[in-house]
Amino acid sequence: MKSASYFTTPIYYVNDAPHIGHIFSTLLADIGARTAQLENQEKFLLTGTDEHSTKVIEAAQARETPVETWARNNAEAFRQAFKAFNIGFDDFIRTSEPRHKVNVHRRIEQLMATGDVYLGKYVGWYDAGQEEYVSDAKAKQYEYKSPINKKPLLQRTEQNYFFRLSRYQEQLLALLNAGELNIHPTSRTAEIIARIQDGLSDIPISRHSSEAWGINIPDDSSHVVYVWVDALFNYLTAIDTEELRHLWPATLQVVGKDILWFHAVIWPAMLLALKKVEGNEWLDLPRNILAHGFWIHEGEKMSKSMGNFLGIEALHRYCGEFGVDSVRFFLASTGPVGASDSDFSHLRFIESYNANLANTVGNCFNRIIGMVNRYFDGAIPAKPTIANEFHNKITELSQASREKAQAFQYDKMIALALTIFRTIDQHVNFTEPYKLIKQPENLVHVGYILHDCLEALRHGALALWPVMPDSMAELLQNLGCLDAEQSPCFDNSRSVSPGYRIKETRVLFPRYQEAP
Ligand code: MSP
Repeated sequence: MKSASYFTTPIYYVNDAPHIGHIFSTLLADIGARTAQLENQEKFLLTGTDEHSTKVIEAAQARETPVETWARNNAEAFRQAFKAFNIGFDDFIRTSEPRHKVNVHRRIEQLMATGDVYLGKYVGWYDAGQEEYVSDAKAKQYEYKSPINKKPLLQRTEQNYFFRLSRYQEQLLALLNAGELNIHPTSRTAEIIARIQDGLSDIPISRHSSEAWGINIPDDSSHVVYVWVDALFNYLTAIDTEELRHLWPATLQVVGKDILWFHAVIWPAMLLALKKVEGNEWLDLPRNILAHGFWIHEGEKMSKSMGNFLGIEALHRYCGEFGVDSVRFFLASTGPVGASDSDFSHLRFIESYNANLANTVGNCFNRIIGMVNRYFDGAIPAKPTIANEFHNKITELSQASREKAQAFQYDKMIALALTIFRTIDQHVNFTEPYKLIKQPENLVHVGYILHDCLEALRHGALALWPVMPDSMAELLQNLGCLDAEQSPCFDNSRSVSPGYRIKETRVLFPRYQEAP
């Protein structure tokens, strides 16, 4: 039986159209899911939209549109954007769906039964932009302004339902220290541990229904479930069925650094509380969380007021000119996969495209296949009789790239995949088949060199397939290593086979020259 893997993305607020940040979180999870597919695992990728936010009502009201219509249209815009980026999602959840309401009610009822949710009074600070309650200590540290939009924090006093987060402080610390729940990059773990050690207070998990739309607290229509708590349950709603429950715990939850606290502390604590209920024994903690950094644009932080968001149209323009795979490659290889932020600059895009895709991946393929066409009429030459250093080096690189994928270090996985292509180029420069071929007695030897290079190209294409699924599948098919209806995986990947006639190959990544 295949082992199961479950990858999730944050669910996106539908107050506005998708932008680079949303595409990026989703792309990383898609790459993760595809690396699992390559390892022959059953994979499930969940994405979707977070709809019960006051930001969503405000956006709908500003356009005089019913909030349901606004949310539906925007959810569709997200779904289409992800399809355009070739995201292989298996489900797209909307928090306004009935299946989600049923799940949230059931879970809140369970938490009430264990005493983990109770009615109390909140007095304190609130960040309206982030829809987040802020502790006194944090509010002081932020100088009573939102760390995100810099607007003043608001004073709030309200009767609310609370979640007993304080109960889970020690258990969370123990689990984080024991590596039950892993945060990537690991530098973030220390940050979270330090914050937990500062002390966890119970948190309000409801709002008055007059100010919000959403899912009511069971048997109390005067309160709706706080949007964040409602949203976190989505990860369970989608798979809490007979057929899919085995996917839990999630293999990897991708989030931006701004929402790590919710995923690394509040969500795990809620799961620990739920697990106490009979029948919930399967609710273990997610295995891994990947907290990525932020994109900035041409050196500037992106913001609504600056009008410099890299929206979906701008990204579509790049896709139109360079192909979707090239944009996926740029985002995943130079993006903020780790702790630091990354700059999307046009110049960086062109430099990376030309250096990595045109000059390295594309050129390497065309060079090798060109020689096979010229010297062997396109037929794959015989395999060398003994393994050699080059072959061993490629096997090592391919293994190392697989290991980085398993460690969720997708930028390093890509760097190693590129090294496969560079190593092929160096091997050609070193062995000089184009010179050797001038003596007819070298034909067999040249064949051995090219056979090894073709086999190395197969390794390179497999390693890059999660990032560039269309173009790498095309290359694998051209080499005769993948059937058209197959999705590549290390198990079913055939080696290049002598005698197979390579299909005509188009230039995949033509060098880009800026118009003068
Ligand atoms: N709805 C919540 C998530 C709930 S998950 C249970 C939310 N939505 S969001 O639409 O505001 O943002 C979703 C994701 O986009 C977050 O992971 C956030 O980090 C990411 N990004 C938003 N702007 C970004 C950049 N400029 N760069 C990279 N990612 C950023 O938060």
